[in-house]
Amino acid sequence: MNIRIALQTDLQAIEAICLAAFEKDENVLIANVAQQITSEARSSQSYSLVAEQDGAVVGFIAFTQLAIESDITGFLLAPLAVHPKHQRSGIGTSLIKTGIDTLTKQSVDFLFTYGDPDYYGRFGFNTTDAAKFIPPYPLEYDFGWIGMKLRQTHAPTEPVSFGCVPTLMNEALW
Ligand SMILES: CC(C)(COP(=O)(O)OP(=O)(O)OC[C@H]1O[C@@H](n2cnc3c(N)ncnc32)[C@H](O)[C@@H]1OP(=O)(O)O)[C@@H](O)C(=O)NCCC(=O)NCCS
Repeated sequence: MNIRIALQTDLQAIEAICLAAFEKDENVLIANVAQQITSEARSSQSYSLVAEQDGAVVGFIAFTQLAIESDITGFLLAPLAVHPKHQRSGIGTSLIKTGIDTLTKQSVDFLFTYGDPDYYGRFGFNTTDAAKFIPPYPLEYDFGWIGMKLRQTHAPTEPVSFGCVPTLMNEALW
């Protein structure tokens, strides 16, 4: 398996992965978000990765910078998808770990995501580290708002709000 930065030429494969991996009630929305973030990645501090297996793109992950009302720096991990035919072989784990390593080297303070704590917990995501960071929209599932410190840094003692890249400023995603 090979992990690399997503290119514009990967957009169709990224769409296909998201359509296959996510449920029908959300897959079109998330496929659009994944493509949009990848298209815009050069112009922001965000980036997308793909996983290749035998020359085919089978996994996707995006990391987008947050505008936090504080001197703390943070990124959001979303979306993440592995094609169902290739799940449970460590591809999701490799994509997440590559992102964590990259952002840690860039001295980013916090990484957040909105997802299943059972899955993301094994990488260090937890509700406590995310608790003081207030997402831009009310959450459908409070328990899914999780984060982790990437380096020893101060954490806010009072709630702080943040904004996302325009593609993620969509209440339907939260
Ligand atoms: C979640 C997802 C990215 C994992 O990708 P993957 O390549 O299969 O993950 P890995 O092989 O690295 O890890 C698989 C492990 O994660 C576990 N796992 C997968 N999805 C899980 C979930 N929703 N909750 C808890 N554990 C989960 C599996 O049980 C497996 O553990 P095991 O091998 O010890 O049994 C993939 O299942 C997927 O694309 N799902 C649909 C889209 C989605 O839900 N994306 C995440 C949005 S929050």
